[in-house]
Amino acid sequence: MSLKVAGPIWLRKLLRNLSGYFARNINIMNNIDFKVKFLLPEKHIFSRRPKAKRSFISRLKDTGRHIKIFFQQFWGRAIGTKVKKRDQLFVSNIYNNLYSLPTSEWAKTKIESKYLIEFKNDILEVNGWFLKSVYVQILSGLLDQFNYSSILEVGSGRGDNLAALSLKNTNHKFTGLERSSEGILAGRSLLKDLPNCREIGDFDPWWARFNLKDTRNSDTIDFVQGSALEMPFGDKTFDVAFTVLVLEQIPYDYHKVLKEMSRVAKKYCIFLEPFREANNLNGLVNLTRRDYFRFSYKNFSRFGLKPVYFSSDHPQKLKYRMGLLVTKVTK
Ligand SMILES: C[S@@+](CC[C@H](N)C(=O)[O-])C[C@H]1O[C@@H](n2cnc3c(N)ncnc32)[C@H](O)[C@@H]1O
Repeated sequence: MSLKVAGPIWLRKLLRNLSGYFARNINIMNNIDFKVKFLLPEKHIFSRRPKAKRSFISRLKDTGRHIKIFFQQFWGRAIGTKVKKRDQLFVSNIYNNLYSLPTSEWAKTKIESKYLIEFKNDILEVNGWFLKSVYVQILSGLLDQFNYSSILEVGSGRGDNLAALSLKNTNHKFTGLERSSEGILAGRSLLKDLPNCREIGDFDPWWARFNLKDTRNSDTIDFVQGSALEMPFGDKTFDVAFTVLVLEQIPYDYHKVLKEMSRVAKKYCIFLEPFREANNLNGLVNLTRRDYFRFSYKNFSRFGLKPVYFSSDHPQKLKYRMGLLVTKVTK
């Protein structure tokens, strides 16, 4: 959230970060009974072990690291280790490069990559499809519970979330808004490659029965290039809008995205983002170090998005955690 505070830049920066660290947790009145369901995608798990108790020494090391990062964040310029500001130019450079990989090579990197994930009492070693599968299942399960026909993904990347959702929900109209032109091209070629791209169908164990060659995704997904800060859509164009890891990349202007989402959506907006409420101090320090979004959802109502459901009880990376927020559009 960009706080409108007068004063030197270091004071504004300090307040912005403290607003993340100390924002109060909110107990949401769950007046809507959503069911968040997913199956663990076993085929994307390499190994599993019980979580070990952390030793005193390892906790002490973490504290040392937190103090170092704190200094880097606030006085980095003086000691030459300033945290890189995650502004829009920085973000587009990263993604234009990433999306220039062809579908087949990208799918290969997903299969070959390894991450540690915590879920309940276990640590899982998984590949790059694992979390994608969990997120898409969560979204798909929520969308099934809303009465909707048109969906917007804001920051749709290379379009894989929408491609997977459209396999299950063939009667709905999906739109992806993406800033990176390479992302838009990658999304369009993903649709062409989809019949041969088994991994997308494997996102969700329920969808394994689909014969990808029979799907007609190119008719149901429209990829539009544009910015989430100023969306090229009329008011109330979509029933539901969602983001996955996109506010994460827009820590300075994310309130503009919220305003736009409440303008273009009619019913609900869903967010899978690293909310302050999902993270402990370790998570917040790691988010700060990368200059990711790390703020509370308590101000979302101001932008016409009333929080009605929040949870972080799904598989999580070790460094920082994602929260699932469902908001009702009130404007
Ligand atoms: C971490 S990726 C997530 C992509 C996709 N949602 C997914 O789950 O794979 C963040 C995406 O947000 C996009 N993005 C960042 N700023 C944006 C903006 N102002 N408007 C639209 N997209 C934006 C980036 O280009 C990138 O594709």
